Amino acid sequence: MIEDLRSLFGLLEPLYQAHPAWPVERDRIGQVLATAAEARSPALRALDADRAARPAWFGAPDMIGYSFYVDRFAGTVAGLQGRLPWLETLGVRLLHPLPMTRGQAGDSDGGFAVADYRAIEPALGSLDDVRALATDLHGRGMALAMDCVLNHTARDHAWAQAALAGDVEKRGYYRILDDADDVTAWEADLDEVFPDTAPGNFTHEPALGGWVWTSFYPFQWDLDWSNPAVFREMLDVLLFWANVGVDAFRLDSAPYLWKRRGTVSRNLPETHTLVAALRAGLDAVAPGVALLAEAIERTADVLPYIEPQDGTRAAQLAYHNGVMAALWVALATGDAAIIGELVRDTVLTRADTAWLSYLRCHDDIIWSALNGRVAADELDRISDFYAGAGGFADGRRFQARPGAAPSTVGMLASLVGTQGARALDRYRLLLATMLALPGMPMLYMGDEIGLPNHVDPAAPDDARWLHRPPMDWPRADAAAAGEGPGAQWLSLTRRLIAVRASLPALDAKAATMVRDDAPGLLVVERGSGDEMIVLVANFGERPQPLPLDGDWKDAIEDRPIARLIAPGCVFWAKRRG
Ligand code: GLC
Repeated sequence: MIEDLRSLFGLLEPLYQAHPAWPVERDRIGQVLATAAEARSPALRALDADRAARPAWFGAPDMIGYSFYVDRFAGTVAGLQGRLPWLETLGVRLLHPLPMTRGQAGDSDGGFAVADYRAIEPALGSLDDVRALATDLHGRGMALAMDCVLNHTARDHAWAQAALAGDVEKRGYYRILDDADDVTAWEADLDEVFPDTAPGNFTHEPALGGWVWTSFYPFQWDLDWSNPAVFREMLDVLLFWANVGVDAFRLDSAPYLWKRRGTVSRNLPETHTLVAALRAGLDAVAPGVALLAEAIERTADVLPYIEPQDGTRAAQLAYHNGVMAALWVALATGDAAIIGELVRDTVLTRADTAWLSYLRCHDDIIWSALNGRVAADELDRISDFYAGAGGFADGRRFQARPGAAPSTVGMLASLVGTQGARALDRYRLLLATMLALPGMPMLYMGDEIGLPNHVDPAAPDDARWLHRPPMDWPRADAAAAGEGPGAQWLSLTRRLIAVRASLPALDAKAATMVRDDAPGLLVVERGSGDEMIVLVANFGERPQPLPLDGDWKDAIEDRPIARLIAPGCVFWAKRRG
């Protein structure tokens, strides 16, 4: 604990020492940590101790995550327990319910406009339900991840309401500009997240006598992380949930925390320091709890969230959004070289970090994360392709920042061509590739049964709702019985996950070597010795010779591998014998 405190304050001093509230806040942070440490239960301490011996516990080959909206998947938190058999049979070991905390009334950006960080959305259940869920999951060897929306609160949040009512201290929790010229000057360097539906980064609030910073929607007020009270409050929130039994936090919108004039105010070094400081604070109380950085940025900008150059311990996981986008690029163009390039450039070196691997999530696919690796006009073509321009894909365009390819929305099944005969083969190619790359895979609800796009007329004006359907349980039950349109999707998903779980070479920390001597194929060696697995994937249109000497079998189907790899085929090759 003493060591963790030294590291925490060592990180915070340079950020806050000039702030007048620092001496007081420094003491308060110490108290917050002491109180939380005392409150940590013996059962959770035992989990911490267990994980100390397996610092990348989330990277085991049988760790599969599953991300979902509680209401759309199970109705309520309590209802989730009835759905655990579905997840366990699928091979899921980590649940990531999207925000469960009380959101603002009406449109809450899917819960990402938080009105109360310590309460559960009443329609979903109660704090006790979450506590019971966490305990149940731990009993089954499973884990619970939770969102922590660090960058902003809802306008409905008590801090924002107090600020509107003239509370000076709470006004200081937000970034409020008094002067329109100031707004213009800041805006000159900023990007826009939702240029179509929420242009600009500031919202005029007459009661504040100024403009409040709102990077996302006008009802999501950015917190001012240059105020140490904000750090203390959010650390307290993390510790609160860690002690309820949460095993991992998704740090929502991590890049936006620190702002500096004259910069784009994303991914600033101070933001990396804040993530490392949250880590140090957790280490003092709940060291087994992992942090997942949500930084949907170019790979070079994502790396400092998990492996800062100075060796500091920061987040343990980060979305590998570059590889995710590259998988879709490869599917559209037939060229998988960029996947190999990204995997090669992003081999992690720390013992306690892993990539989060995924194909789809609740957000759009942001092509501009590949800027600098894929030509701008090529990204435009790919965006058009997935928006349905003449190919198999049936997605839609989402908002585009000026000069960037519009991002893409749509369920996985629709993006691979739901109706077409080859849709399932494309899913297999993507999923088998993703599961063999280094990382902790996270599935997205409904993909395991090939749910297509869902048009919900009651959804907010935000095209991402196209891929946020309710779980289709009749289809799921039929699929489990081997019937209906989801059956093949489900059996494929279950099989790949089950085989993966049996292959130590697919641990996130197993060695990774991308081979470049087999043009036209993606070939990645994982692990070593007898256990080695070689991912061989043909995203192209021509058959390619198998680039392996000796006697190999396909671990997925447990059968010999053909010497010629047909287009669209993927193998996990394992030495026979
Ligand atoms: C994250 C979420 C996204 C949300 C945004 C604002 O990017 O994944 O759904 O709109 O943060 O909270």
